[in-house]
Amino acid sequence: MKSALITGITGQDGSFLAEFLLEKGYDVHGTIRRSSVDFRERIAHLEGHSRFHLHYADLGDSMSLIQVIGKIRPDEIYNLAAQSHVQVSFDAPEFTADVDATGVLRILEAVRQCGLAKTCRIYQASTSELYGKVEQVPQSEKTPFHPYSPYAVAKLYGYWIIKEYREAYNMFCCSGILFNHESERRGETFVTRKITLAAARIKQGKQDKLYLGNLSSLRDWGYAKDYVECMWLILQNEKPEDFVIATGEQHSVREFCQLAFHNVGIELEFKGEGANEKGIDKATGKVLVEVSSDFYRPTDVVNLLGDPSKAKRELGWNPTKTSFEQLVKIMVDADMAKVAAERESERVKTNLAAYLEKGIVK
Ligand code: NAP
Ligand code: GDD
Repeated sequence: MKSALITGITGQDGSFLAEFLLEKGYDVHGTIRRSSVDFRERIAHLEGHSRFHLHYADLGDSMSLIQVIGKIRPDEIYNLAAQSHVQVSFDAPEFTADVDATGVLRILEAVRQCGLAKTCRIYQASTSELYGKVEQVPQSEKTPFHPYSPYAVAKLYGYWIIKEYREAYNMFCCSGILFNHESERRGETFVTRKITLAAARIKQGKQDKLYLGNLSSLRDWGYAKDYVECMWLILQNEKPEDFVIATGEQHSVREFCQLAFHNVGIELEFKGEGANEKGIDKATGKVLVEVSSDFYRPTDVVNLLGDPSKAKRELGWNPTKTSFEQLVKIMVDADMAKVAAERESERVKTNLAAYLEKGIVK
């Protein structure tokens, strides 16, 4: 039985990858961090599985990494842990550098110090943010990097240190340069999830308006569940190499918004420009989307489009298994159900409070 260690197992990708590897028969280990509240909802359904194990470790703490890696001696490590929010990296640049840059080095050194350099394969979660202020469209493995945020600069170090250890120590370590991938498990402050959740709340009368930043930003959005398969394929490849993982299709934030609202039965029309642009409900004339400069970034990456030819050709991966339209529908349907469940639980609580007040329930 192969064993895998996933850092960042509580995240969107970590949870899908854990499911994928358990299905493949792996013994799956994941690192978690102590938190005053329980943020393990994405993996709660896996706890109790006989081949699923959790360990405390932090990418900022070499000792914890050496301890966990030395104990498990994994065949494969998937380093997904990161401060992954680009806008937050402007507010917490030092923390982002420590985790997203030096954290990668800590993993590599822990593997070496535990004597696993020859046996353990390492996947590093690299990113299309490396292309940043893009110098070419579409972007492939050969496109020059131009990182454009503290997050991207930190991730660029991660990319290069992986390449360095591959060449210096002959280690099997690779980067997947993944373009944006989303899902019903996406963090609620990333733009896609923020939109699908707002569409569901507005439709069900729980929110009046959605405030967004740059509506013209272009992204190549795929489905996270499809992308974790690629992480595994990269480590099963004969040679350690880096791959671009993307769909090869591009949409704007505005288009994502229109399609999400369409899926809840609201047709949005955008009028105005820049900070004055508004998304208006065609049926009622009500303004449902407005621009807020709070969501502008000091520097923004606005034109990401990946060329997944190498992954298609060499890994046999299908980049369009889930279409853009299907992805948006999956996310909206999940959020409609979530909001409906929250409303139902509020209704039960309100009824109970009323019954208690009237003395019907004692
Ligand atoms: P995510 O949902 O934000 O998950 C990040 C994970 O990293 C969480 O499990 C988090 O743990 C953990 N983490 C954060 N700081 C840590 C630390 N100091 N020590 C240990 N663990 C830490 O991110 P994701 O979307 O799944 O992305 C996974 C990886 O792929 C990230 O490295 C991200 O930068 C990269 N990436 C993502 C995309 C995308 O579109 N999703 C594209 C390209 C690359 P807590 O739950 O405790 O916070
Ligand atoms: N988050 C957010 N919130 N983004 C907004 C908003 C808003 O209200 N309004 C517009 N945007 C724009 C951002 O300016 C950006 O251009 C785009 O929407 C996408 O933003 P995010 O969804 O936050 O994702 P990201 O592209 O910055 O970063 C994600 O993808 C990277 C891969 O390219 C993250 O998952 C990174 O970890 C990942 O590396």
